[in-house]
Amino acid sequence: MKGFPSVLENINDLNLMQIQALLSLTTEYKKKDIDLVESFYEGFKTPVVATSFLENSTRTKHSFAIAIQKLGGMYIDFNAETSSLKKGETLEETLLTLKHQGVDCCIIRTSVSNELAQFKGNHPLKIINGGDGTNQHPTQALLDLFTMVENHGDLKGKTMAIIGDCVHSRVTHSLVELLPQFGMNLILCGPEGYIPESIDSKNVSLCDNRDEAISKSDFLYLLRIQKERHTGKEDQHFATYHEKYGCSLDVLGKLNKEISVYHPGPANIGVEISADLIKSPLYQGYKQVENSTYMRMAIIAAILSNRNISCQLELNGDDARIKKGPTGL
Ligand code: NCD
Repeated sequence: MKGFPSVLENINDLNLMQIQALLSLTTEYKKKDIDLVESFYEGFKTPVVATSFLENSTRTKHSFAIAIQKLGGMYIDFNAETSSLKKGETLEETLLTLKHQGVDCCIIRTSVSNELAQFKGNHPLKIINGGDGTNQHPTQALLDLFTMVENHGDLKGKTMAIIGDCVHSRVTHSLVELLPQFGMNLILCGPEGYIPESIDSKNVSLCDNRDEAISKSDFLYLLRIQKERHTGKEDQHFATYHEKYGCSLDVLGKLNKEISVYHPGPANIGVEISADLIKSPLYQGYKQVENSTYMRMAIIAAILSNRNISCQLELNGDDARIKKGPTGL
């Protein structure tokens, strides 16, 4: 199996085998939780993993922090706001400094789309994209995939509408690359400016009518309006958004659709989702959060293992394991 990438910037950095191995490893971590982890790093140098979030985050940053510590790693919360990045230092210099302090891997969130691509050929340390501008959020898409497989089994032939501000959503961009690889069809639904004008994919279609999109779907993925990324004219939809594109038990009931509703969070209640829907068993957002720790453990373990040629992610039937090598991390 091709080595796991040292920089996970984009869903397309992973091949199907690696994605399947991550799903298997996530299942294993979820089943065994901390026990497996303690034995995993036994006798190895403790890996040092940092998060550097240059944008707000509740779910992603904390689930990475928990995942690192569950893996037995040393966690550094690198505060970008009070760092020398604010004194004009480049991101590369900052990462080189972290590397020389002993940091093995850094999870970075940045508001600049594609900022991490520069490190693909020449990485100062291992890098995981925790969301870059409107570009990509690969770890969110992977944990969403895991949750969908857990809920629905084989995803082949299933249709999911992503309703909301798809154009400005990095999660959508990663889902569009990931889910069709598992045979899914996606409908991007939203008002003008929230969905692209055209799309060149046989598995992805566009729709500006919520009820039509829901009627064709086996499950839904709702998105927050990404106000911070708007240039102005997208804001004209705020006043009527809930009525035209919001989802509630009433909307689903009228369409006779008792279907799972996913959301990456943060959710804006009363805008894209109603209070009764988010409190209902149809809502999968908390399950996505629960699974996020296990998937992020798998991603960190895979990227760290790749540092050592004798410590590789192995795919063995349905059972993916990290194989320890003699020299350790
Ligand atoms: C998403 C993000 O930051 O892109 N949230 C997340 O990571 N759970 C979605 C969003 O902000 O709307």
